[in-house]
Amino acid sequence: MRQKLAAGNWKMNGLVSDLGMIDTLTSAHPKPSSEVLLCLPATLIAPAVQRFAKAPVSFGGQDCHAETSGAFTGDVSAAMLKDAGATHVILGHSERRTAYDEQDDAVRAKAQAVTAAGLTAIICVGESLEDREAAKTLDLIGGQMSGSIPDEATGGNFVLAYEPIWAIGTGLTPTMDQIAEVHDFMRAQLEDRFGEGIGQSVRLLYGGSVKPANADEIFAVPNVDGALVGGASLKAEDFGGIVKALDAAEG
Ligand code: PGA
Repeated sequence: MRQKLAAGNWKMNGLVSDLGMIDTLTSAHPKPSSEVLLCLPATLIAPAVQRFAKAPVSFGGQDCHAETSGAFTGDVSAAMLKDAGATHVILGHSERRTAYDEQDDAVRAKAQAVTAAGLTAIICVGESLEDREAAKTLDLIGGQMSGSIPDEATGGNFVLAYEPIWAIGTGLTPTMDQIAEVHDFMRAQLEDRFGEGIGQSVRLLYGGSVKPANADEIFAVPNVDGALVGGASLKAEDFGGIVKALDAAEG
């Protein structure tokens, strides 16, 4: 049984004064059956971990360097995120792949650093609109998966997120058939590479304009084990609505 995962991605948003949202969220959903995770700006991880140590929510980072320490001005390592109390790190988000030109091999090296630090890597893959229109979606995702996912991946240290670039922050979402096609493909690819045991145990998230209004239908798609949520994770009511829909899908 794969435990469902509701993962928020605050991106470069939030100050210590915004952490009150987590009080509202966890008071409204004190006993979620799903795992609830917020990937915060690095500056907020330690204060959030201290303040919400007893709450049913864990915290993660949004990127890290592949090295443990060294002369890399401005970067944080997986060990540092762990030291701050993080349990997960998002890697290879399309915003990093695009704006920072992160390639699959860099994502893989970071994922190895994350698993070596004892954290869980949430690796993102997804196609552009041009790729989809050119019917290249599955080829592209297959390539990103083989390039970005390290051989050490297991259901315990790794989560895979399908995020079509054209659906991120746009209010557009794929059809449920399109999501099902990609998630079934990702499951089959994982089983081919890692065997059925590991392939079946990895959680597959959908991300891109998930909100309470579309969460039910997305979570009913086979092989969707949760969501990676950007904009809607900033508001307790919206993220709470998504947690509630995911708990209901568990049913
Ligand atoms: P969105 O972002 O939910 O705002 O579309 C998703 C993401 O970038 O992870």
